[in-house]
Amino acid sequence: MTKAVGVLTAGGDSPGLNAAIRALGKAAIGKYGMNVIGFRDGFRGLVENRIIRLNRDNLSGILTMGGTMLGTSREKPHRMPVGGKTLDMTDVIVENYHKHHLDALVCIGGGGTHKNAFRLLEKGLNIITLPKTIDNDLAGTDTTIGFDTALGIATEAIDRLHSTAHSHHRIIVLEVMGHNTGWLALGSGVAGGADVILIPEIPYEVGYVSDSILRRSRGGKNFSIIVVAEGAQPRDPDEIAAKGKKQQNGRDGSEPSGDGHTMRLARELEERTGLESRVTILGHLQRGGAPTAYDRLLATRIGNACADFVREGQYGVMVAARGEDVEAVPLKDIVGNRKSVPLDHPWIQSARGVGTCLGDEKAER
Ligand code: F6P
Repeated sequence: MTKAVGVLTAGGDSPGLNAAIRALGKAAIGKYGMNVIGFRDGFRGLVENRIIRLNRDNLSGILTMGGTMLGTSREKPHRMPVGGKTLDMTDVIVENYHKHHLDALVCIGGGGTHKNAFRLLEKGLNIITLPKTIDNDLAGTDTTIGFDTALGIATEAIDRLHSTAHSHHRIIVLEVMGHNTGWLALGSGVAGGADVILIPEIPYEVGYVSDSILRRSRGGKNFSIIVVAEGAQPRDPDEIAAKGKKQQNGRDGSEPSGDGHTMRLARELEERTGLESRVTILGHLQRGGAPTAYDRLLATRIGNACADFVREGQYGVMVAARGEDVEAVPLKDIVGNRKSVPLDHPWIQSARGVGTCLGDEKAER
């Protein structure tokens, strides 16, 4: 019997989403003759029954495009704003799933999407997820769709900031995304040769950071590039606290940018070192534009495998990247587990090895 599969993208968009939708759709339709329905704007489209039937025509020409052809949102099925109220719309979703006679629903997303997908699994729906987030913070998978592209963009930004920091003898503080993990900051910082890298996993001492900048100055390098993850925090929050106004800017009320933590850190370093400072907040630039070849390959591999899983009736799992292969990881094993940077990760060792300050030790060289 012909199977029907629904697909949605939820959470922040990520380069490679279209490549994943294309691979799933082309394999499901072309290899297995399935019907594929896309829901618009994440779980919201599933509630409102806003669909797009995917076919060879609309799946064509999207491989290289950033964003998601389906649209996305951060809406949660169990807490959705409807007519001025926040309602649990889970039952409506279950109803619509059955109305379309779906055999499976594929949710492509990050940590939040996985929690929401798991709730639907518990309601009896056949769920498969694909790991997507520029933050790379999903447990159970080697990597996530979009991370490689964002890493490249952040690295290029560091490359470009070097020449201007050098010319003006300035400290340039670059804030990169990553939510509560430091994968993007650490990876781009190491790849771009940042002098200081601050990540949430390693609370920092402002004094160690300013010392390392002064040490560089004494060695004749009177400029520094500081890469700060949006979730990085000082050991003593009071050290850089009262010097800027507070701003609620993050999706969870944290203050990743604008007049927040990064600006205060830059001002503090300027005061402590006497070097002029500038701040660059990379923001959503990191999520925009075409995916890298790596992300296209990853998304195509995972999307293809997802069609196989639907065919085999393998549900309740994430299609995880494992080396050059894929693996079915039960959703119950990963939901709610954030993948932080382990403190003994090779990237951390590499950074320390080349003398990069991570804000937790006095600079010795
Ligand atoms: O999860 C991806 C991400 O880009 C995070 O790095 C960042 O904290 C957040 O999304 C920003 O969310 P929004 O696009 O809703 O502002």
